[in-house]
Amino acid sequence: MQQIKAAITGVHGYVPEYRLTNQELETMVDTNDEWITSRTGIKERRILKGEGQGTSVIGVEAVKGLLEKTNTNPEDVELLICATVTPDMVFPATANIIATKVGAVNAFSYDISAACSGFLFALTTAASFIESGKYKKVIVVGADKMSSIINYKDRATCIIFGDGGGAVLLEPNSEGLGIQDSILRSDGAGEDYLRMKAGGSRYPASQETVQNEEHYVFQDGSTVFKFAVTNMADVSAQIMEKNNLTSEDVQWLVPHQANKRIIDATARRMGVDDEKVMMNIEKYGNTTAGTIPLLLWDYENKLKKGDNLVLAAFGGGFTWGSIYLKWAY
Ligand code: UT7
Repeated sequence: MQQIKAAITGVHGYVPEYRLTNQELETMVDTNDEWITSRTGIKERRILKGEGQGTSVIGVEAVKGLLEKTNTNPEDVELLICATVTPDMVFPATANIIATKVGAVNAFSYDISAACSGFLFALTTAASFIESGKYKKVIVVGADKMSSIINYKDRATCIIFGDGGGAVLLEPNSEGLGIQDSILRSDGAGEDYLRMKAGGSRYPASQETVQNEEHYVFQDGSTVFKFAVTNMADVSAQIMEKNNLTSEDVQWLVPHQANKRIIDATARRMGVDDEKVMMNIEKYGNTTAGTIPLLLWDYENKLKKGDNLVLAAFGGGFTWGSIYLKWAY
């Protein structure tokens, strides 16, 4: 008998209306469209405006659309996991808020914090619940409102990040389709290079932390860049070797959208041509846990049943990883 695999059976995304263009950023910090485009590939990013609007707004819109398009009764959802580093609050979990707002009243729900690799960590975790045979309908959300932790006076970070996210439905598959393998890694030594220092238990919010601007993302860009290029490419090549995949066998590389140069380096290492690389960084920037579900959403119409996809990410922590999956519809 075929082993049960966890297959993505639907995807939906949400990005806020407001477009923060490179031209507008030129009026805020000392930067220019040419620098941003050539160094990152980003042209604009979306920003969630309005008081009291947290990451759950993005998650709720994505999950509502997902339930509708997959004809899923929210009461049948058993588990909802949300990957995010910008939860509505420290607690309760944003996943709890999303689940209740979409009517998933029978689901248990929790958040996963793994920065830009969050969606891969959450997808692998969710897949294990399905593979165990105990769960039949699990939703994974990857969403971030990065604008809530970005210093719009810091040109090294404000040009990269944006708001948005997406959600997938995972269901059992006995035809061999779905998630085949994953390699997930983390290294706490990364805390010095990419972090939001204050607001947690080590440095709780105080007048001093606010004055020192420690509630914003700090990134040592070039150090993170070096780690990202090496690790994202390595882990993508590793998953191919482990599963005997050649570049011809891979239909799509689905890379975290942090910087077009990191994506290009990963594709080169895998020997995968540009036309097989999903890319939407130019219109959304880096939405942290949101990039991979947003890519799947944007490219959904191009995907065919049985396509081999390699998902790859690198982010704060450091965290990184890759997933090999066979598209199921
Ligand atoms: O998704 C989570 C993980 N994050 C990442 O993967 C991001 C990794 N890092 C990066 O993508 C890149 O490091 C950045 C896009 C953040 C920066 O690009 P870079 O090519 O590494 O630039 P740099 O930091 O080495 O800076 C090069 C120069 C510097 O000027 P000098 O010292 O050479 O005169 C910077 O001050 O570019 C300057 N610079 C800028 N100039 C115009 C830095 N930011 C800007 C800017 N506009 N926004």
